[in-house]
Amino acid sequence: MAIIRFPGKPLKDAPGGEGAGHPPPVKRLRSDGRPARDRNVILPLSVEHVSLTLNGQPLIRDLDFRVEPGRRTVILGFNGAGKSLTLRLCHGLIRPTSGRIVWEGPLGGDARARARAQAMVFQKPVLLRRSVRDNLVYVLKSRGERGRHMHKRVERALERCHLARMAHRPARVLSGGEKQKLALARAWLLKPSILFLDEPTASLDPAATMDVERIINDLHMATTTIFFSTHDMAQARRLADDVLFIHHGRIVEKTPAAEFFNAPATEEARAFLNGELLP
Ligand SMILES: Nc1ncnc2c1ncn2[C@@H]1O[C@H](COP(=O)(O)OP(=O)(O)OP(=O)(O)O)[C@@H](O)[C@H]1O
Ligand SMILES: [Mg+2]
Repeated sequence: MAIIRFPGKPLKDAPGGEGAGHPPPVKRLRSDGRPARDRNVILPLSVEHVSLTLNGQPLIRDLDFRVEPGRRTVILGFNGAGKSLTLRLCHGLIRPTSGRIVWEGPLGGDARARARAQAMVFQKPVLLRRSVRDNLVYVLKSRGERGRHMHKRVERALERCHLARMAHRPARVLSGGEKQKLALARAWLLKPSILFLDEPTASLDPAATMDVERIINDLHMATTTIFFSTHDMAQARRLADDVLFIHHGRIVEKTPAAEFFNAPATEEARAFLNGELLP
């Protein structure tokens, strides 16, 4: 499987509605002062009473939350809490047993638009068995791009993600951090409305982590909404606007990040932040 995955089957229950009543997306400026291209075509994302049972085991229980455009949301919780499953459910890789995942933006009802507007980067990226550059070329060719303009975009992505000097290397020989940067370079080229990241920097050293965070920030400044999981609390503090804290497949806290880290409201979140174990 490629690192950037798109939802398999379209979710039939997504409305083609107007998303009326929601605040307009935040307009951002690029570093040159011009407004960034508005990528918000499918957001907000509304997760409505979603549960998932596999082999008779309830793994996700009654998740209910929204992701507003332009926000950076981190999902936190102990091992096995259901973070990866939640990201996969939202991205459309798994169908909920009950409840609905609804994309409320103007093109939220359009399966093709939904597929094009999302990208996901996994902890262990699976790359195509070809060079670093060709992994990027493939992404753009599959979107119908050709010629000089396409190659220019690839070169820019290589530069931006510090991959230029290894552009000819086979992707499979890259180190963990380099693979993660290549995965993000692919996402960068896709200009998604929303990027899902499942522990994007687990087992990376501080320098590689900083590089990856810089690329995530770049994407965010260019109006990509970010929804990620991490076990790195310093990273969660650096990157997140909002926190979803889940425990045994259930949301225990959903709150602005500053509030969560300064004054967690529940015993479970306090224990988590203090590194204690809970039954
Ligand atoms: N395909 C599956 N079949 C059965 N159980 C599963 C399946 N996928 C995940 N689970 C279980 O669901 C629970 C939540 O898994 P998930 O991978 O979402 O946890 P997580 O919060 O991402 O944990 P970690 O921090 O270790 O990555 C775990 O107990 C896991 O064993
Ligand atoms: Mg996980």
